[in-house]
Amino acid sequence: MSLNTFTSKPLSIHLQGAPHTYPIHIQPGGLPFLGQLLLQTGLPQGQNCFIVTDEGVPHLYIQQAEQSLTSAGFHSTTHTVLQGEMAKSLPVLEQLYRAALEQGMTRHGIFIALGGGIPGDLTGFLASSFYRGAHFVQIPTTLLAQVDSSVGGKVAINFGEVKNCVGAFKQPDLVCIDPNTLQTLSPRELRAGLAELFKYALIEFSALAVEESTLPASSPLGGPWLLDVLETHGSQWLDVLPFLIQRACEIKAAVVMRDEKEQFPLLDERGRVCLNLGHTFGHAYESVLGYNTLLHGEAVAVGTLCAVIAQRSLLGDAAVARILTLMDTLQLIPYEALRALTALPELEALLAVMTKDKKNRDVQHVRLILPVLPLGKVQVVERPTSDILPWLSSAHAYLIERMNATKC
Ligand SMILES: NC(=O)c1ccc[n+]([C@@H]2O[C@H](COP(=O)([O-])OP(=O)(O)OC[C@H]3O[C@@H](n4cnc5c(N)ncnc54)[C@H](O)[C@@H]3O)[C@@H](O)[C@H]2O)c1
Ligand SMILES: [Zn+2]
Repeated sequence: MSLNTFTSKPLSIHLQGAPHTYPIHIQPGGLPFLGQLLLQTGLPQGQNCFIVTDEGVPHLYIQQAEQSLTSAGFHSTTHTVLQGEMAKSLPVLEQLYRAALEQGMTRHGIFIALGGGIPGDLTGFLASSFYRGAHFVQIPTTLLAQVDSSVGGKVAINFGEVKNCVGAFKQPDLVCIDPNTLQTLSPRELRAGLAELFKYALIEFSALAVEESTLPASSPLGGPWLLDVLETHGSQWLDVLPFLIQRACEIKAAVVMRDEKEQFPLLDERGRVCLNLGHTFGHAYESVLGYNTLLHGEAVAVGTLCAVIAQRSLLGDAAVARILTLMDTLQLIPYEALRALTALPELEALLAVMTKDKKNRDVQHVRLILPVLPLGKVQVVERPTSDILPWLSSAHAYLIERMNATKC
């Protein structure tokens, strides 16, 4: 399979035990055909479409979406919210409910998220709660949203200090991914999305429930393993972007189809929990540094580093070096992030957040998803809280070393 000339095909998610199946359409240059896709998906012509986007999403994409909906016979209006986590809030949601009623939206109307994970999570929750559930379409335009948040049905807003406190499972009717929209995304946002993509490379074996003890030469999905593709292309990874996006969506879809609502046994790494690799550590960094300092993907990259350090003796030097070299080549922890991370005054604050993680059974243990050999496999473990601080210190020392090397 030539990955450079790879052309994607629509993926389909069939959720077990639910009447819901939905397509994920990945097509460079596909956004101007949105209206046609809605019709192909069976969404009724003539319906009201309520587009939610944010101030940072280029106007061109809004225009393309609106024009295509109008030519396909839909009525559409666009509602632009603030950029950033503040948009995932009750006051913004209330404004959107009001606007939706004014526009005459009913439960047959179609809510469309156009933008990154923030409009995606917000619009999804709006769609899940409006008249107990209306239609919902995702048009992700950040890499993070294209490989992660637009697939899988978790939607939420923040409440008080708690991120994603009020939410629901709301599977979309359609996910329309146009990788060309990433051309306007900042390099920093792009690399933050790449960090989530890298996570899929480290969980691919478990996520696809491959049982062999050695990694077969090729993926059951066809073609090479994601880790091999990332290593082969290294800093030129954008050359195979449509393949990378499709593979990430396929891996996430496989996990979601098996365990839509996170009901697998807590320590079974084939459940939705495997998607949390790097996240328990990562959330602690996000929380201690404040949510505006690191991008989510950067926090996940640091979390992945910590998870690798925690498994150092089990993985062995060669595997650890392999992961760290690739993270470095892909620049998953950029200089801006390194500066903030190495200025952290005390690592105990990270530990305090980790002990409160909702996955934990008690305060003496932290539940973690950690890589094992062969790379691509993970395990879910409970480790005593006292083990964590030395790992955080090693990660800190490594980050300082990286920062000094980057400065030179
Ligand atoms: N639901 C899930 O399963 C899930 C999974 C992971 C993350 N999330 C959520 O996703 C959110 C983060 O998403 P994100 O990283 O996409 O952030 P985001 O939505 O804030 O987008 C990042 C920035 O990029 C801008 N932008 C979007 N598309 C652009 C484009 N094509 N060109 C130029 N600029 C563009 C936006 O205006 C924004 O300022 C968090 O709230 C997180 O909790 C949800
Ligand atoms: Zn994440």
